[in-house]
Amino acid sequence: MNTDIKTVGVLTSGGDAPGMNAAIRAVVRRGIFKGFNVKGIRRGYLGLLNEEFVDMGMDSVSNILERGGTILETERCLEMKLDEYQQKAADICRKHGIDALVVIGGDGSFRGAQSLARKGVNVIGIPGTIDGDIGCSEYTIGFDTAVNTAMRAIDNIRDTASSHERCCLIEVMGRDAGYIALWSGIAAGAEQVLIPETYDGDEKRVMEKVAAHRATGKNNNILINAEGVGRAEEIAGKLEKAGGIRVRTTTLSYIQRGGNPTCRDRVYASIMGAKAIDLLAEGASNRVVVYRNGIFTDYDIDEALTMESTMKDTEEYIIDMLESLTR
Ligand code: ADP
Ligand code: F6P
Repeated sequence: MNTDIKTVGVLTSGGDAPGMNAAIRAVVRRGIFKGFNVKGIRRGYLGLLNEEFVDMGMDSVSNILERGGTILETERCLEMKLDEYQQKAADICRKHGIDALVVIGGDGSFRGAQSLARKGVNVIGIPGTIDGDIGCSEYTIGFDTAVNTAMRAIDNIRDTASSHERCCLIEVMGRDAGYIALWSGIAAGAEQVLIPETYDGDEKRVMEKVAAHRATGKNNNILINAEGVGRAEEIAGKLEKAGGIRVRTTTLSYIQRGGNPTCRDRVYASIMGAKAIDLLAEGASNRVVVYRNGIFTDYDIDEALTMESTMKDTEEYIIDMLESLTR
C-alpha cells in the first residue's frame, strides 16, 4: 500500500461512454477495499475547476453497473488547455487533499491529466470513449456497446431499405476516426463505409458503385458515413446529384452513445477501474491503464500519448475486404 496516497479523486471527461459507470464503481469499491478515501468530481475538469466534489461510499455506486452514461456527469472544458487553469486545477487538488486523480476519458482528457501530472498531481488514465480511437489501447470503454447499438440500428434500417428498394446513408459517430463506422458497417453488411482516414470526397465513384450493385439485381444499398467526413444530409445531397437517385439519411447520434453497456464493456471497464487503484496502491502514478496485445497493462502517460494503434493492419484489412464481401 502506498502510504503517501490517502484520497483518490475520480472524474469522467469528454463524451460519455457506456461502461464509464462500471469503471467508476470499480475505482470507488476497489479504492475503499485498498484503504483509500474516494471523492467523485462532477462534470470533468469543469467540475474540478469549480470544486464540485462528492464523497463516494460503497453505496454511492450501487445499481449503476448496468447504466449507460456517467453518474459523475461529464463536460468539455476548454480552459483546461491553458496553463493558468491547469495550475488552478492542480492547486484545487492539493487544497482538497486529492493525492491522486483517476481520469476516465479519451486522449484529450489524458492530455489534461498529463498537464496535471506535470504540476505534481498523481494521475492515472482509463481509456473511455465510444470512438475507440486511443492509440495506446486496443479497447476503449464504450466502443463495444456503441458498435453493437449501431449495428442493430443499421439492421433495422436495412428492413426498410429492402422493402422500399432504397439507398440509405447512415451517419455514425467518430469525429476523427472511422472505427465505429467500420465495425458497425462490416457487422451489418454495409456496401460502402466513408471514413475520415480514407474517403476522398469522390461522390461520383460512390454512386458508380451503388449503380454497379443495382445492376447485379440488388434492390437496396446501405452506406455508412463517419461523422468525421461530414453530415449525412450534406453528403447525401452530393451523392444524389452525382448518382441521380434519392439517398435517404439517418443520423444515429446519441442513440449509439447511450444505452446499457454490453457485457464486455462492463467487465473490461471494471478491470480497468480496479487496475487504476492497484497501480496507486503499488506506488505507481502517471500511468494509463490499457488493453494492448491482448492483455491489460499500463504505460507512462507521456509514452501512452505517443503510441500508435496495434489495430492499424486489421483496420486496413477490413477496409480492403469490405466491398468484396457485399454484392
Ligand atoms: P476526449 O477526452 O474524449 O478526447 P476531448 O478531446 O473533448 O474528449 O477532451 C476532453 C477534455 O479534456 C477537454 O474538454 C479539456 O477539458 C481536456 N483537454 C483536451 N485537450 C487538452 C489539452 N491539450 N490539454 C489539457 N486539457 C485538454
Ligand atoms: O468523442 C465521442 C463523440 O461521440 C465523437 O464521436 C463526437 O464527435 C463527439 O463525441 C460529439 O460530442 P458532443 O455531441 O457531446 O459535442
